[in-house]
Amino acid sequence: MIKVGLVGYGFMGHMHSQCHAAAGESKIVAVADVDPAKRDEAKEKYNCEVYASVEEMLKSADIDMVDICTPTYLHAEHVVAAANAGKHILCEKPMAMSVEECDKMIDAVNKNGVTMMVAQVIRFWPEYQVVKELIDSGKLGKVQWLSARRLSPPANWAWEKWLWDPKRSGGGVMDLHVHDQDYIAYLLGAPKKVQAQGTKGPGGGLDAVQALGWGHSSGANSYAEGSLIMSETYPFNMSMVIACEKASIKLDSGADPSLMVYPNEGEPYAPELPSPEIGESTETSGNLSSLGGYYNEIKYFVGCLKEGKKPTVVTPEDGREAVKICLAITKSAETGQTVEL
Ligand SMILES: NC(=O)c1ccc[n+]([C@@H]2O[C@H](COP(=O)([O-])OP(=O)(O)OC[C@H]3O[C@@H](n4cnc5c(N)ncnc54)[C@H](O)[C@@H]3O)[C@@H](O)[C@H]2O)c1
Repeated sequence: MIKVGLVGYGFMGHMHSQCHAAAGESKIVAVADVDPAKRDEAKEKYNCEVYASVEEMLKSADIDMVDICTPTYLHAEHVVAAANAGKHILCEKPMAMSVEECDKMIDAVNKNGVTMMVAQVIRFWPEYQVVKELIDSGKLGKVQWLSARRLSPPANWAWEKWLWDPKRSGGGVMDLHVHDQDYIAYLLGAPKKVQAQGTKGPGGGLDAVQALGWGHSSGANSYAEGSLIMSETYPFNMSMVIACEKASIKLDSGADPSLMVYPNEGEPYAPELPSPEIGESTETSGNLSSLGGYYNEIKYFVGCLKEGKKPTVVTPEDGREAVKICLAITKSAETGQTVEL
């Protein structure tokens, strides 16, 4: 059993801890959170040790890995501390606020010989996993055109409203849109150039965006858009349409079936999804009800630790690349210029 120390028992901390419990190969033995109410809740739920800081937890708790679910501006500090304490690390996305911070994290991880994965969960989301397999198999021919979209009601649950503060979150581009940019880089290779425009949210951050990417190694261009400023009642939705040479693919989290393939020849079909969703998350107050992708991600990382393997689905360098792309998109939207990566 892998012993987990979780940092930040907020929206994602709840999601991750439920997945550790559900997957059954890891156990929450310690939780660090600055909020005493969160510490009480975690102690009650997991009968674990609780700490007011990550430093105290690293000093005293008997743990194998640290699961970092703190606000984004704290990721670099917490990852470096965990690596220096010799712990393996799962760190929520986006990896950090800057490429320089990512480099410091990667250096600390390498220097201490620990294993780290950035929780780019879309790479583990069943529908997106199937799309990746379909494209990589070559069965549908090359990607010719791709359009991805992610829409969310405002993240008003966040501790101290950190998500609305671009200095602490990087805005909706870094927080929400990063999912699609990471996935597009996974599927098509990273873009060489981006052009974007955006809309500022209540805290002055770029919370809605439309972005074009050119020069992906696959040869296709990309378009992606995201908004964290939908109305409170708007249902969370992620979608993607891909035109391949031999078929078109439509993914829509709000549709049933959520994934369809429309071949040039033959009947449209709904591909089988690899892992059934394991249940509803009733404890979180956010907009994500399914544990599926999170469960797959945590099971994968814990499995890598148990087998002594480095994760290959997401490397620390992939996390860094996603940050680099999102910062380029932010710069393009702010300057009106095309930005080269
Ligand atoms: N993968 C996804 O789909 C997804 C979804 C939402 C958020 N996230 C990411 O997860 C991270 C956390 O987001 P969230 O929505 O859970 O935020 P949140 O505000 O709900 O939770 C943050 C928690 O961290 C605690 N905290 C703050 N400072 C701390 C410190 N110094 N030490 C210990 N605990 C501290 C807060 O008390 C709170 O409990 C962010 O990086 C965010 O981008 C990922």
